Amino acid sequence: MINLAIFGFGTVGSGVYDVIRLNLEDIEKKLGDKVRVKYILDIRDFSSHPLKELFVKDIDVILNDGEVSTVVEAMGGSHPAVDFSLAALKKGKNVITSNKEVVANFGCELLKTAKENNVRYLFEASVGGGIPIIRPLITCLAGNGIQSITGILNGTTNFILNEMFKNGKSFEVALKEAQELGYAEKNPAADVEGLDPARKICILSDIAFGHKVSPDSVPTEGITNITLRDVKDAEKSGYTIKLLGNVEKCEKGIYIMVCPFFVKNDAMLANVSGVFNGVRVIGNAVGELLFYGAGAGKMPTASAIVADIMDVESKNKLFDAAWEDDADPDYVLDISKRETAMYLRFEKSPDASTVKKLGLTLIEGTDSSYISARLPEGEILSAIREHAVASSFRIL
Ligand code: HSE
Repeated sequence: MINLAIFGFGTVGSGVYDVIRLNLEDIEKKLGDKVRVKYILDIRDFSSHPLKELFVKDIDVILNDGEVSTVVEAMGGSHPAVDFSLAALKKGKNVITSNKEVVANFGCELLKTAKENNVRYLFEASVGGGIPIIRPLITCLAGNGIQSITGILNGTTNFILNEMFKNGKSFEVALKEAQELGYAEKNPAADVEGLDPARKICILSDIAFGHKVSPDSVPTEGITNITLRDVKDAEKSGYTIKLLGNVEKCEKGIYIMVCPFFVKNDAMLANVSGVFNGVRVIGNAVGELLFYGAGAGKMPTASAIVADIMDVESKNKLFDAAWEDDADPDYVLDISKRETAMYLRFEKSPDASTVKKLGLTLIEGTDSSYISARLPEGEILSAIREHAVASSFRIL
C-alpha cells in the first residue's frame, strides 16, 4: 500500500485528491500497488466534510507515521510550506509540490536535503501547470546545450490580455473572471505585475543552466500599463502582445527578464491564447520546441502532481534536477547590453537623425509609432531619452 499525505486542501490539494480518485484504477495498475491518501493537513475546519476522517491539524502525526512515503505540499506561500517540506524530507518522505515561490527561492536547499535523505523533491506542476516542461528539460533534453527558453508562463495574464483585446472586456472584469476560474494567485498582483512568471522563468533557468537565479534579480514588468492604443498599433504592424519570461544563455552568463513583448502573429507563441501557457525551448541539437497546454487550474495542475507522485513511487529514477547557489554577481547580465528591436510610440514624430540612428520604420496607419532596428537596448533607450516616448516594448 502506498500512503500519501496532502498538505493544504485548497484548489490544488483538493485537485490532487480528485485526480487520484478519478484515475485510481489505472494509477494502481501502473504502480502495481494500492494507493491511498491517508492524511490531509489543513488548519481550517473540515469537520463536516465527507473526507473529515482524513484531516489532521498537527504535522507531527504525518511526519511520525512511517507508512507515509510521499507528501504533496499544496499550501502555497513560502512559510510554513518550505519548513514543512524540509521536515518531511528529513523524515525520509518524498515531497511533491506546485509551489513556485518555494521552488524558485529554496529549491536548491530542498533538492540537497532530499538527496542527503535519499528521497526526492519533484515540482513538475510549479511551471506551466499541466504542461510537461520540467521533466523534459531534465531528461528528454539532457543531451542538449539549452540556448534559450521563452514562455507565456502565466495563465491569468494571458487570459486577461485575451479577454481585453479580443473580447473587449475591461482589465478588472477579466481579472475577476480569472480569479473565479481559480487561475489567479491569492494576491493577483503576483500575476499582473509579473512576479509569478519571474519565479517560473527562474526555475527553468536554474534547471537548464545549473545556477540559481533569484526572482528579485530578474528585471520584471507586468501588464498593467498596456493600453488599447498599444494593442491597436501591434495589430496594425502584424504583432500581438504577450507577457513573456525569457532567458538566453550567453558566453559569460544569462540575459533574463519578464515583460510584455511584441510577438509576430505567425510565431508559435503568438497563438497561445486564453489561460494556456506555451514554452519555447531552443536546444543546440534539437532546435526549436514548443510545449503547450493548460498553465493553471485545479485539474491540470493536479495532473502534473499525480505524475510526480507516480514517478517517485515507481522508483524508476532517471535524473533529478540540481543547481548551485553560487551567487556569482555577474551571472545575470545587464539587459541594456542585449540586442533587441523595439516598438516605440513617440508623442510627436522624432527628428531625422533619431530616425536614422535607430533605423526607425513607421508603422503604417500610425502618426508616430515605429519599429526600431536591432540594437543594444541601452543605446535605444539613451537615444530616446530626450524624446517624449509614450510607450515602448521589446520585440521577440
Ligand atoms: N496564477 C498562476 C497563473 C497559477 O495564472 O498562471 C499557475 O501557476
